[in-house]
Amino acid sequence: MKEEKDVYILGIESSCDETAASVVKNGREVLSNIISSQIDIHTVYGGVVPEIASRLHCENINGVIRLALREAGFGFDDMDALAVTAGPGLVGALLVGVSEAKALSYALGKPLIAVHHIEGHVAANYISHKELMPPYVCLIVSGGHTHLCIVRDMETYEIIGRSVDDAAGEAYDKVARAVGLGYPGGPKIDRAAKDGDPLAISFPEGEVDGRPYDFTFSGLKSAVLNYINRARMTGEEINVPDVAASFQHVVVDSLVSRTIACAREYGFRKVAMAGGVSANTALRAAMQEACDREGFECYYPEPIYCTDNAAMIAAAAYPSFLAGRFADLSLNAEPNMKLGMKLGA
Ligand code: KG4
Ligand code: ZN
Repeated sequence: MKEEKDVYILGIESSCDETAASVVKNGREVLSNIISSQIDIHTVYGGVVPEIASRLHCENINGVIRLALREAGFGFDDMDALAVTAGPGLVGALLVGVSEAKALSYALGKPLIAVHHIEGHVAANYISHKELMPPYVCLIVSGGHTHLCIVRDMETYEIIGRSVDDAAGEAYDKVARAVGLGYPGGPKIDRAAKDGDPLAISFPEGEVDGRPYDFTFSGLKSAVLNYINRARMTGEEINVPDVAASFQHVVVDSLVSRTIACAREYGFRKVAMAGGVSANTALRAAMQEACDREGFECYYPEPIYCTDNAAMIAAAAYPSFLAGRFADLSLNAEPNMKLGMKLGA
C-alpha cells in the first residue's frame, strides 16, 4: 500500500549499454531494479557499438519498465514522477530513455526530472547507506569519468581533480583487451589480478605537474602495452594475472592516495566512491583500509548499484522532486552534460 506522504519515482537509464528501470521510494528504498544488459552483444565487437545500443534500448525499454512496475507491485498511476538520465552518454542511447520518459510524462500527466548520469552514480551511495549525508569527498570512477569531488550538499559538486586523459574504467578496458581478456575489461582484470603478484612488474604511476589531485592513466596504459609488445617480440610468455595485478596496483594506489590526501587537506572525515570501477574488489579493500587508518568513514555502493542502473537515477532525482525542479517536454539528450548542470525550472 502506498502512503500519502511517500514519494515514488520511476527511474529510467539508457545512457550506454544497459536498459534499466527502477521504482525507488523516498530516494533511498529500492522496490525494483531491472537491468537488461547488452554486454553479450557488444562483446562480439570488443566494445559498445552506439547504433546497436540505441536499437536494443528501443526494443527493450517498454518491457523493462513494465517489469520494474510489476516487481515493485505498483502501476504508473502510483508514481509521483518520472526520472531519466539526460546525459552524459551516447546521444542515440540517451534519446531512447529521454523520449520514453517525456512520452510517459505527457500521457500520465506526471512531472519529469532530468538526471545527470554521474550524479546518479554518486546517489547510489544513498541507497546502500541510508544514513549518509553530505558533505563528503567522493571519488567517481566510471568508464567515461574519473573525478575527485567534494559533495557539499545533495546537489552541489565541487570538482577538485579529474583525469587529464583516459578515465580509470577506460584504462581497465584497454589493458584487458591488450592482454586478451576481452570486454568488459574491469571485472576481468579484477578477477585475473587475484591470482597475480601486484609487485611482479613495476609500472609507472603518472602525475600531472602542479596538479596533485588530477589523474593520468595514459602513460601507465602505454607502459603496459609496451611491456606486452616487448614480450611478444622476444617470444616471452606473458603472465596475465601478474600484468593485471601490477597494473591494478598502480591504478588503485593513484586513486586512493589522491582521495585520502584530498579528504585530509579539505578537512573531511567521510569518503565515498561511485561508478563502475568502485565495484573493483582491490580498490574497495584499499580505500577501506586507508580510511580505517585515517579514522575516516568509508562508503561505497553494493556492487549492483556501482555499475549502470536506474535505481541510482531515481535516487538522484529525489532532491529535485522535493525542490519542485522539473523538466518540460523540450528536454533533450545532453551527451556532454557537465556535472552540476541542472535541466528544468
Ligand atoms: O559506471 P559504469 O557502469 O558506466 C559508465 O558510466 O561508464 O562503468 C563502466 C566501467 C567499465 O570501464 C568497466 O570495465 C568498469 O566500469 N568496471 C570495473 C569493474 N566493474 C566495472 N573496473 C574495475 N573492476 C571492476 N570490478
Ligand atoms: Zn555509468
